[in-house]
Amino acid sequence: MSEIAVIDIGTTKIAFASAKIENAKLKINFLRSYSSAGLKKGKIVDMEAMSTSIKRALQDIETTTGLKVKKAYVCVSGNDIKGMYSNAAVRVRKKEVTEQDIDLAIEAATAMRIPSDRQAVHILPVEFIVDGVNGIKDPVGMKALRLEARVYIITASSSHIQNIVTCCNKAGVEVEEIVLQSIASSEATLTEHDREIGTVVVDIGGGSTDIAVFQDGYLKHVATYGIGGNHITNDLAIGLKIPFREAERIKTQFAVAMPDVSFGTLKFKENEKEIEIVGLDKHSIKIPLNVIKEIVYARCEEILEIIKKEIDSIPLDSISSAVFTGGTSLLQGFISLAEGFLSIPARIGKPDAGLMEMAYELGLDETPFNEEEIEGIYHPEFSSTIGSFIYAIKTRDFNDSTSGFERVFNRIAMWFEKGLKKFI
Ligand SMILES: Nc1ncnc2c1ncn2[C@@H]1O[C@H](COP(=O)(O)OP(=O)(O)OP(=O)(O)O)[C@@H](O)[C@H]1O
Ligand SMILES: [Mg+2]
Repeated sequence: MSEIAVIDIGTTKIAFASAKIENAKLKINFLRSYSSAGLKKGKIVDMEAMSTSIKRALQDIETTTGLKVKKAYVCVSGNDIKGMYSNAAVRVRKKEVTEQDIDLAIEAATAMRIPSDRQAVHILPVEFIVDGVNGIKDPVGMKALRLEARVYIITASSSHIQNIVTCCNKAGVEVEEIVLQSIASSEATLTEHDREIGTVVVDIGGGSTDIAVFQDGYLKHVATYGIGGNHITNDLAIGLKIPFREAERIKTQFAVAMPDVSFGTLKFKENEKEIEIVGLDKHSIKIPLNVIKEIVYARCEEILEIIKKEIDSIPLDSISSAVFTGGTSLLQGFISLAEGFLSIPARIGKPDAGLMEMAYELGLDETPFNEEEIEGIYHPEFSSTIGSFIYAIKTRDFNDSTSGFERVFNRIAMWFEKGLKKFI
């Protein structure tokens, strides 16, 4: 039996998920979030506060489930992440590509110099080029003279990663692997089809916006910005002179990200477009909804402008769709606003999509979660948590997994392992 634990350290919450794999059956048995401290705009500002909040979460998990978490996959926003391609070619020794040729090509492609202040966090397979023919996913057995491997290496600030590891260790948990939020959220929300047609995945949380772009089945680009839903709340708190907590309530209940849409499901008559808010002095004030909309719209526009600029900076043919996830994707009107802004269809990405796709790949005949117990599976703020878990399954070699699963993912697992051993 294998157990996997995930700790997703976000600006507003620390989410924890655990699962068991037994006799080719996989079940997520716990998913919960706890309050987080010590992170701001995706950066660590207080290590003590962060390790204390991780410790508290672990204590609660032990009390409620009896599970003592010793090791976990840890998901974090990247903070200054960079992605780059690396290619290397080898001669095919026996005129037919073998696994050893693939190993050599990958080893050569991953052997690149990385500045000392940065650390490789993910090494992802892109493609093989066999005698000049590109786009090949598994070249074993092909007649060829030359084999070229192409990988995508994602690096992050070493100090950021090391500080996360230190905080986890101080809280009493070992880091099995770091998973970047952009990678995790993509795993949770995208289908194979999305990856082929060209899709941008954007996880907008409380303090960070993590972007990943896929096309032709591969990850093409990643970026992270220190902006998120907390900025919208802050704008409301400052603009309306109300406490942060009240601003958060106003945002989730009444805010609409579009200046010209109706108030959706909200039961407001046209002549009652004012809401009551508790001000800093604890007295009630009446604020017109238009004022709230204007404040929220300005920040959403800024976030979408950043995303648009990032997409435009990538030399890609076209991107056909956008998937927004993370808590801020739930902001009313945001998806319609994004569609207008980016001129592509957009949707909210929820983690049950990736989980069901993985279950299908694994050949599982049972749903890998109990809907009543694990309802967070339908919430976009858990995309990176569940996505890290999918990542863990895909990149680990479980003895009791089905052969279908091994066939699809083992090759990739080996790539990761090799790359990570080299760089971390
Ligand atoms: N219904 C909603 N409408 C608007 N915003 C929402 C809603 N629900 C949650 N949010 C916002 O989502 C944010 C939290 O999202 P999430 O849990 O994905 O962040 P996080 O993982 O803690 O942070 P990060 O990944 O940025 O470090 C908060 O700013 C919260 O206000
Ligand atoms: Mg997050």
